[in-house]
Amino acid sequence: MKILGIDTSCDDTCVSIIAITNPKSQIPNFEIISNVVSSQVKLHAKYGGVYPSLAKREHQKNLPVVFKKTTRKIDISKVDLIGVTVGPGLEPCLWTGVNFAKELAEKFTLQIIPVNHVEAHIYANFLNYEPRRCDLFPAVCLVVSGGHTQLILMPDYGKYKILGETRDDAAGECFDKAARILGLAYPGGPVIEALASEVNINRGRASIRLPRPMIYQKNYDFSFSGLKTAVLYDFRSRSSKIRKSKEYIRAMCAEIQQAIIDVLIHKTLKAAKNFKAKSVILGGGVVANDELRKQFQEKIQKEIPNTKYYVPDSKYCTDNAAMIAVTAYFHREEATKNWQKIKVNANLKM
Ligand code: KG4
Ligand code: ZN
Repeated sequence: MKILGIDTSCDDTCVSIIAITNPKSQIPNFEIISNVVSSQVKLHAKYGGVYPSLAKREHQKNLPVVFKKTTRKIDISKVDLIGVTVGPGLEPCLWTGVNFAKELAEKFTLQIIPVNHVEAHIYANFLNYEPRRCDLFPAVCLVVSGGHTQLILMPDYGKYKILGETRDDAAGECFDKAARILGLAYPGGPVIEALASEVNINRGRASIRLPRPMIYQKNYDFSFSGLKTAVLYDFRSRSSKIRKSKEYIRAMCAEIQQAIIDVLIHKTLKAAKNFKAKSVILGGGVVANDELRKQFQEKIQKEIPNTKYYVPDSKYCTDNAAMIAVTAYFHREEATKNWQKIKVNANLKM
């Protein structure tokens, strides 16, 4: 079985084809035949964030090119199903992908599975780990990206309970906005990670201390806008010489990264303990952060060693369509001939 995935929820135009080699077995095997991501980062960099109407125009321009690249190695008539992101995301961008999927369905007589983008960030884990039910559920999932920060209890495939989410900015958004304050490039996450890695941690931590918002509150919610404001106040309080110094910027990056990691680990482990999770599953662009991946592993090993830890390969943490295709596979029973009626929902919930 072969599935074509499409994602245009934000600023990446993504198309992928995956093959499922033993779909009848309990443990399917996924092979990524092609996975093309065309990033609009350069275009949006000057705005420090994504500009929806511009992103939509780019998706319209890029989709046929990305599709052609994706299908270079494989005859499209060999594809059995299309999976496309219908939300959450930027509405004009989502429609571009959905309309493109509909054109393909018409042309090649295929059915379409509507996919939830946040769920797909969780399913990205199943691209590199063969899922064994007994090792997974109940799972506590943390999805952290530029648009989402959610802690989710997953009792089984396709079943979700939102335990907590951000009340304001998403974790990735905080990386991006903090980077902008410091005069760094967009997207901020990878830039902050690179600069933080140059710091002698002890020295870096001593000089700046940022808050860990909501860390000790009883709920599972997050808030990152206060952290961004704390970065702004600290930055403004420094002389222009210090603001421009490499030591200050590096130390600030290390502290921003550590503050976000501390909150995410604390809340996720608390949920994993409370719900006796068999596994902790991470997903979303922020999870591409090596320091976060390492510290999660260390903490899980130390505090809940019997809990399995799943994290996608770095290149499948940020937006891609292989994760859309794999999610469509798990929802394949929902394929409908009535795909003409599929609509997008910018605020789609799990
Ligand atoms: O999942 P994603 O590609 O798009 C959304 O669904 O939002 O996530 C993009 C976000 C951006 O905010 C970016 O700064 C962040 O993920 N990000 C990172 C890293 N790589 C990307 N944050 C921290 N460390 C990274 N290495
Ligand atoms: Zn995403």
